[in-house]
Amino acid sequence: MIIDVIAGARPNFMKVAALFAVADQFPNIELRLIHTGQHYDANMSDVFFSDLGLPKPIRHLDVGSGSHAIQTAEVMTRYEQWVMENRPDLTLVVGDVNSTVACAIVASKLHIPVAHVEAGLRSFDRAMPEEINRVLTDSISDFLFVTEPSGMINLAREGRPAEAIHMVGHVMIDTLLRMREKAAELLVYQRYGKHPGEYAFMTMHRPSNVDDPTQLGTIIDQLAWLSQRIAIIFPVHPRTRNRLNETGLMSRLEALDNMYLIDPVGYLEAVCLVDSARMVVTDSGGLQEESSALGVPCLTLRDSTERPITITEGTNTLIADDWDLFRQRVTAILDEGSEHATTAIPYWDGRAGERILRILSEQLA
Ligand code: UD1
Repeated sequence: MIIDVIAGARPNFMKVAALFAVADQFPNIELRLIHTGQHYDANMSDVFFSDLGLPKPIRHLDVGSGSHAIQTAEVMTRYEQWVMENRPDLTLVVGDVNSTVACAIVASKLHIPVAHVEAGLRSFDRAMPEEINRVLTDSISDFLFVTEPSGMINLAREGRPAEAIHMVGHVMIDTLLRMREKAAELLVYQRYGKHPGEYAFMTMHRPSNVDDPTQLGTIIDQLAWLSQRIAIIFPVHPRTRNRLNETGLMSRLEALDNMYLIDPVGYLEAVCLVDSARMVVTDSGGLQEESSALGVPCLTLRDSTERPITITEGTNTLIADDWDLFRQRVTAILDEGSEHATTAIPYWDGRAGERILRILSEQLA
């Protein structure tokens, strides 16, 4: 049985890597990696292939950047052409990026079953492009692989059939657990003269934070406050870098002492930096989960999360625009010491990839 595994943007690569890592156990399955090219810079894409030991994609669709409509349409057009000539038995998509929904639509209309890995997550904020991608993808997927209990509830509420919904855990955490030790050996923080626990790890790329200059300015003011208390290591996403340059805010950030603005880092470097951070400050979805699994406190610069288990069972606090709360949490974390918390999220045990391929190999056979 041939499965097209779709990856296009940075957070997809570590997720699909968990499937390739266990594929040998399922001889009746052939995984074909399709790279849509949504992310194309070496440090947003290639570095993940080398870090994760991913195979070379069988097909690169080379779509690049564009508006939502252009990017989604390009992925659809190019993936459809591939499928017409090389029909798979199933198309597997992960996460919530534009490539996810685009390939799910193409496969579904050609009557190819679709599997969605990381199904059922909902922020209930339709202003997020990812929320639209999640809802649409789940509504046309035949296999819904879920990471946390909220996903089961959301899919049931939306009327998806119970037999299509499978709680399997989280492929991203599979890869995190597999790579954690190797990542720790890199001691990346030493490049900045730091020891474990001596810095905050920061990422930010959501349109709601970086595309609005007022919001971006407010966040920079708060980072100025934070940087007086602890060093900040901040790999800057290309979208964020563009906005900082366009608005002239980059110079304000660059003027901060104790602020290390660096290019986007590879997967192993990121895991090393997160695992040894005193805290994570982010608007990423994946980092809320990775920091929760590693027991590192996470302050999320958003007013909703589609991953509520990171709050109830993990280490996450939603800050929204409550900067008093931000300062209270930072102060408490700095007072607490740098010991990692212990978290145990059900099914986040490193075996999600195996569960997914077992279900597919049994049900599609
Ligand atoms: C995309 C995903 C988002 C995910 C994020 C992770 C969607 C709707 N959004 O957002 O869910 O959290 O990836 O990074 O799919 N750019 C480069 N080089 C690249 C890629 C992008 O310079 O390799 C720049 C371009 O200016 C581009 C901009 O970043 O226009 C945004 O890229 P895009 O893929 O549209 O969205 P992200 O913000 O990366």
